[in-house]
Order: sequence, then C-alpha cells, then structure tokens
Amino acid sequence: MSAEAGPTIEPATPETLAAAGRLLREGRLVAFPTETVYGLGADATSDKAVAQIFAAKDRPQFNPLIVHVLDTAAARALVTFTPLAEKLADAFWPGAMTLVLEKRQDCGLSPLVSAGLGTAAIRVPAHTIGQQLLCAAGVPVAAPSANRSGRISPSRADHVAHSLPGPDDGGPALIVDGGACGVGLESTVIDATGAAPVILRHGGIAKEAIEAVVGEVSEASATDETAPRSPGMLARHYAPSKPVRLNALTAEDGEALLAFGPNAPAGALNLSATGDLTEAAAHLFAHLHALDASDATAIAVMPIPETGVGRAINDRLRRATVREEKG
Ligand code: TXA
Ligand code: MG
Repeated sequence: MSAEAGPTIEPATPETLAAAGRLLREGRLVAFPTETVYGLGADATSDKAVAQIFAAKDRPQFNPLIVHVLDTAAARALVTFTPLAEKLADAFWPGAMTLVLEKRQDCGLSPLVSAGLGTAAIRVPAHTIGQQLLCAAGVPVAAPSANRSGRISPSRADHVAHSLPGPDDGGPALIVDGGACGVGLESTVIDATGAAPVILRHGGIAKEAIEAVVGEVSEASATDETAPRSPGMLARHYAPSKPVRLNALTAEDGEALLAFGPNAPAGALNLSATGDLTEAAAHLFAHLHALDASDATAIAVMPIPETGVGRAINDRLRRATVREEKG
C-alpha cells in the first residue's frame, strides 16, 4: 500500500466539516483531530464502513474500536450506564477518557466495532473540531488512532498522511486538519461495568485524577496480556521503525537522544526542558516521528517519572521497545 495522501488534507473550515459529515454518512473513512490523537473515523453503525478501518490500518479484527459521540445523552443510547460510569462521565466528559460498558441491545452498532464482545468503548471528545465533525456526521463515529496498526500514533494531520494509505488505496477520503493535538496521548480506557473501575489503558487522564473522583482504581495486570481484557494491550505498539532504548542518560554511537528534563545534554530533542509531564505527553509522538525520520539508527530515551501522565508515556515507550511481532 502506498502512503501518499497529501491532497486529502484540508483545513477544518465549515465546508470541509460538512463534506466530512457527508462522507461519513456515505460509509467512507475520514481522519479528524481530537484532543488526544487524530482518529480514523467511520460510521459505527455500518459493517461495511467499520470493516474499512481494519483494512486501512491493517488492524487485527479482534482489537475493538472506540465509538465517539457528542455527549453523555448520546452515549446512553448505546451502552448501559452503571453508577460508577455516571460519576466518571460527570467528571471527565467531554475529555480524554473512554468508558467500556455493556452494549444496549438496541444500540445499532456494527458488531465489528466491539470485535464480538458484549461491551463497547465510548468516548465524548472535547476538541471543538472533533465535536463539530460528530455533529455534522449525525451518527456515532468509530475511530481508532489514525496510524497503521502497531506504529507511532498521529498527533498532527501530516502524521496521518505518512502512516495510512491514500484514498485510492483504502485510506481516508479526507484528513481534517486541526493542528497539533493538545493532550498528545490516547484516552485513558476504563472498564466501568462493575462497582470498581479498572484501568485498561493508561492515557491522557492520570490515575491520580480518577482516584480523586472515585477512590481506589485498579489496573489490568500484566498477566492479562495472554487474555487481555482490553485486546488493544498488545505488547508491541506505538513503535518507530528504529530500535528504542529506554532509561538512557546519553546517546551512544548512531543513536538519537529523546531527552526529558533540565539535565539533558544541550542540543537534544527534549520532551520538556522543565520536566513537565503534560508538556512531554503533548510532544511524545511528534518527537518520535521526527527521530524516526532522522539519520540515527536507533532512539535512546531518557528516564521519565512513573507518576501522573508519566505512566501513560512510559506505557507507550515500553511497547515501542518490543521488536517485530505481528499485531
Ligand atoms: O484517544 C483515543 O482513545 C483515540 C482517539 C482517536 O479517540 N483512539 C484510540 O483508539 O486510541 P484505539 O483503537 O487506538 O484504541 C482503543 C483501545 C484499544 O486498546 C482497545 O483494545 C480498547 O480501546 N477497547 C475498545 N473496545 C473495547 C472493549 N469493548 N473492551 C475493552 N477494551 C476495548
Ligand atoms: Mg492506537
């Protein structure tokens, strides 16, 4: 598949958004910005449209997708809310949080969206352009991150064009450009089907923030990797084409350094020179894309603290170190 999609990138004017809504209702793919990363959207009620997402990304069919809706009321039409989900939605929607809940029988979602599971993952994005796109579409929009399966996620429109095939090769008919994503990391995925929340994927909303609202939060354990509760927790993910080495203090021969904090060597690309984790999250994927395109043969990454969104950053970086594995 070719990776050319240049002419399909359009600024998010009202005309572009109207066209995006039309394309989605016709069953085509549209890439669009959210505050986390760019999503590759399709009408979540159409089997044919959703199947195209899996093909364009080369994504395994067993890995279910997140469904995006305008507000909590629209989410209620798709899934059954638990008291826990009510609290979480109140606190964090719209925003970088995805809730996994039991599907309603009359939800109308394509079964491909949830890969045969009885649950669906739902998110209300906060991004103005994302919201306008959902409004224009008038249907729930299934959207994984708009990158080839397993590779670095896109935080800018040009990342999407570089990662996915063009419109004539099964890629998005249109990429709506809304600039760089503010959060820069995917949403935090929470299983809210029970009384206690379980984090299935760390993301833009830190565990500490969730615990402040609902008390202690557990995490899907590493042993779940064999039978993951969130099938997207594949070992290799978010990966550049070059090897990645973690906890590096300096770059060795041929390596490019991805720095963090004030003690970094001068001249290195720094996720945050002040050591700010939120800023680091926003830069993570763009910096990885840049170093992957550089002359270096490998990427060495300085240590990142395992607190707040640092957990999500480290989760992405650990998966980026795992070498070839189909997924
Ligand atoms: O920020 C985000 O979440 C972005 C933007 C575009 O919204 N989307 C995104 O989607 O990251 P994706 O497909 O790359 O990741 C979806 C994650 C995967 O780990 C998947 O396994 C999990 O959500 N997931 C989806 N449906 C699920 C379900 N029913 N049960 C458990 N996990 C589910
Ligand atoms: Mg992804």
